[in-house]
Amino acid sequence: MGEVDIAIEEVKKIIKQNIIRDSILEKENDFEGYQKLYYQTNENVTDYLNLVDISNKENALCVAGSGDQTFSLIYKGINEIDLFDLNKFTEYFILGLKNAMILKYNYQEYIDTLNKLIRQMTKPSEINEIISDLLLYMDEPYKTFWQTILNYNWQLQKELNIHTNFMYGLNVNAGLKIIPQFCPFLTSEEDYNKLKNKLSNVNIQFTYCNGIDLSKTFNKKYDLILLSNILDYVYTCWGNNWPMQNLNNYIANLQKLLKSSGIIFLHYIFNASKPFYQSNFYQPCLDFKNETYNLNNNQQMLLVRK
Ligand SMILES: C[S@@+](CC[C@H](N)C(=O)[O-])C[C@H]1O[C@@H](n2cnc3c(N)ncnc32)[C@H](O)[C@@H]1O
Repeated sequence: MGEVDIAIEEVKKIIKQNIIRDSILEKENDFEGYQKLYYQTNENVTDYLNLVDISNKENALCVAGSGDQTFSLIYKGINEIDLFDLNKFTEYFILGLKNAMILKYNYQEYIDTLNKLIRQMTKPSEINEIISDLLLYMDEPYKTFWQTILNYNWQLQKELNIHTNFMYGLNVNAGLKIIPQFCPFLTSEEDYNKLKNKLSNVNIQFTYCNGIDLSKTFNKKYDLILLSNILDYVYTCWGNNWPMQNLNNYIANLQKLLKSSGIIFLHYIFNASKPFYQSNFYQPCLDFKNETYNLNNNQQMLLVRK
C-alpha cells in the first residue's frame, strides 16, 4: 500500500470510531502515526513571534501541529520551512485543507469556515460542500486523500443513517472557536491578504519524525526552530521524572541545527504559575544561555539562542 492509501485507511478508522460512538472499534493507540489533530493553535503565536526580530530570517524547522505556527512564519517572511510531527495526519490537514482554505477564502470566509468545520452541529451536507469546493485548490496527493475521505464519510453516514459533522470528531480541541488574535496573519484582513500573497512562493516539506530526534533526522542549518510545547510530552520517551541532563543534551543537539544567529523557541509554557511548569523549574538546570518572556494568560516562552 502506498503512503496516501495508508493515510486514507488510518483516517477512515478515526472517523468510524468517532461517528459510531457506541461501538468498540480499534483503540486510538492502535493508529500508528495517525491521530486527531489541532485545528487551531492554542498558543499566542502572535505574541511570541514579536519577542525577537525575525525580519532577516529565511528558514525554519517547526512542529506541524495545526499549521498556525507555519502560516504565521510565512506571513513573517520565512519562505523555507521544514515541518515535523509524530502525527502524519497533520501533513494532509495543513498542506491539503488549510492551505486550500487560505488560497480560496477571504479573511472572514476563512474564519467562518474553520468555525463551521469545528462546530458539532454543522450539517454533513455543508461539510461535504466545503471540502468538495476546496479540492480544486489542492495539489496531489492531498486532493486524492480528501476526496476519498469525503466519499467514505458520505457513504458511512448514509449506511448508518447518522448526521454528524465528521470533521468535529477529528479535532483535538473539539468545540473551541477560532481565536484570531493568536495568529499574526489573522489580525486583520490586510494581514491575511499578506499571507495569501506569500503562499505561492514558499517551500514547505513535511517529515514524520519525533521532535526529540531532530538532529538525527535533519542536517540543514536553520534560522529558527519552533518546538511549541512538545517538552510537555517528552515523558513518553524519556520517562517520568526525566533527568535535566536529557534537556541539556537535547539543546546541544538542536544547536547543531542552528545558523550562527539562530533562535530556538524551546518551550511554550502553559500555566506558568504552577511549580512544575514554570520556567524557573528549567532555568537553573540549563547549561545554555536562555531567556524567558511572560505572555498574557499566565503563559511564557522559553527561548535559547546560538
Ligand atoms: C505540542 S502539540 C500541542 C498544541 C500546540 N500547543 C499548538 O499550538 O499547536 C502540537 C503538535 O505536536 C506534536 N508532537 C507532540 N510531541 C511530539 C514529538 N515528540 N515529536 C513530534 N511531534 C510531536 C503533536 O502531534 C501535535 O501535532
